[in-house]
Amino acid sequence: MTPELLKQGAQRVVEHAKLVAELTESGGRSAGYGRVVQDAKEVDVTHGRILYLEDVSVSFDGFKAINKLSLDIAPGELRCIIGPNGAGKTTMMDIITGKTRPDEGSVFFGSTIDLLRHNEPEIAQLGIGRKFQKPTVFEHLTVFENLELALKTHKGVKASMFFRLDSAQSDRLAEVLHTIHLADSVSKQAGLLSHGQKQWLEIGMLLMQDPKLLLLDEPVAGMTDFETERTAELFLTLKGKHSLMVVEHDMSFIRTISDIVTVLCDGSVLAQGTLDQVQADERVIEVYLGR
Ligand SMILES: Nc1ncnc2c1ncn2[C@@H]1O[C@H](COP(=O)(O)OP(=O)(O)OP(=O)(O)O)[C@@H](O)[C@H]1O
Ligand SMILES: [Mg+2]
Repeated sequence: MTPELLKQGAQRVVEHAKLVAELTESGGRSAGYGRVVQDAKEVDVTHGRILYLEDVSVSFDGFKAINKLSLDIAPGELRCIIGPNGAGKTTMMDIITGKTRPDEGSVFFGSTIDLLRHNEPEIAQLGIGRKFQKPTVFEHLTVFENLELALKTHKGVKASMFFRLDSAQSDRLAEVLHTIHLADSVSKQAGLLSHGQKQWLEIGMLLMQDPKLLLLDEPVAGMTDFETERTAELFLTLKGKHSLMVVEHDMSFIRTISDIVTVLCDGSVLAQGTLDQVQADERVIEVYLGR
């Protein structure tokens, strides 16, 4: 990264903090940037960015799904990504998580970790958790067992066999259960949960690993209005403790949770700002929101 880019990034964080202060009732105090910096021993966020993409492109059979995409996310930020079908939103997440290799460009986690040098499991280990649209919980296990299992996934077979929760892990599990609104269903078989509850459980499984960055692709698709509202509350609780990138088509959900919204179109950023700003943008109305 060039000094100029780093300077621009630092400037953007100052602007972002101001924006958050203007937009949130708490005056941005809940964002808790300091906490993320302290926890993030391996991830250097001193330049004010937890995720940084620059001029990233990828083609599939000659079709440019991602086209010179540049964007960055501040520690503790909850960034919403919107855009038409085929805009490249899921592909961008595939690139960040190492599932797809870009043809060109840079992808950094903090200012020192080059994600293009790491594979998918390594990127998960580094602290980037991803939630796909379809819930993938273990239906025959209980809520508790699913969360417990999430702690074992990075361990070898032998270590898993003899795995017992220590007291810190038990505390974490209890905290996560409460956060995902499933404390009353701890012994319930996951297969018996509603669609929304399964989605929360999967988010809980990601939280057990205490990820620094969470990528959530269409998290409220198929949820009831009530579940969608609870999910908005959940994300607002997570903001500040974690950085979040949320892709959604549900505009009322976006309105509830968003600070800055990035609009993707044809594989690059078309517009960025508050939801009101991007909704008033003629180009965004043209390609996505309609008249
Ligand atoms: N592995 C792949 N091979 C070929 N084409 C792909 C691949 N992955 C994505 N694409 C294409 O890239 C484009 C971007 O797709 P992507 O799934 O990222 O869009 P999206 O913004 O997530 O859309 P949606 O809102 O419908 O989920 C699409 O035209 C898609 O068909
Ligand atoms: Mg998608």
